Amino acid sequence: MKKLVVFASGSGSNFQAIIDSVNRGDIQAQIAGLITTKPHAGAVQRANHHQIPVAVIPETPEGLYTKTIHKQLSAWQPDLIILAGFLKKIPDSVVRLYPDSIINIHPSLLPKFGGKGFFGLRVHQAVLQASEKETGCTVHYVNERYDDGTIIAQKKVPVLPGDTPETLAGRVLAQEHKLLPSVIANLINP
Ligand code: GRF
Repeated sequence: MKKLVVFASGSGSNFQAIIDSVNRGDIQAQIAGLITTKPHAGAVQRANHHQIPVAVIPETPEGLYTKTIHKQLSAWQPDLIILAGFLKKIPDSVVRLYPDSIINIHPSLLPKFGGKGFFGLRVHQAVLQASEKETGCTVHYVNERYDDGTIIAQKKVPVLPGDTPETLAGRVLAQEHKLLPSVIANLINP
């Protein structure tokens, strides 16, 4: 059985979508564990609810952060690493050790509205300020730069009159929950 490791420090709704897909058998893999920097994140509660092991790795000091990630990944031996709402940068040494095996979900149509500082509602605020007619979400491989790796798949979402960052975020998130599990299934299923 192939193994997934998810990095998430937010509410974990994308993590939940992965859990549900695994439980339905749509993704043929097991979730070896969750790595988080935030012990009280919603993602941790979801892991606990589904008896998924959790590693809480503090963001600092940097050296220890990097070393602990390496140690945890070498214990869990993932075939695929998924960043689903993980804001802290993945150390370059980890990216190099798992080539083409780390993916991220981002709530915009990259390369638009990506890079350092584009996270959460800021992304959707920027989309509205730029008067975009459409936005969406992107799953891409992770390299040493924020939101910069090869794009695997995107899903477009319309921007509607009267949208606020919150309504737009909700519309995009609903598509993220479909896109991310389908990409994982494509990459991992035999
Ligand atoms: C999502 O919008 C994702 O695209 C971004 O962080 C957010 C995580 O949301 N990388 P959730 O914790 O999965 O609900």
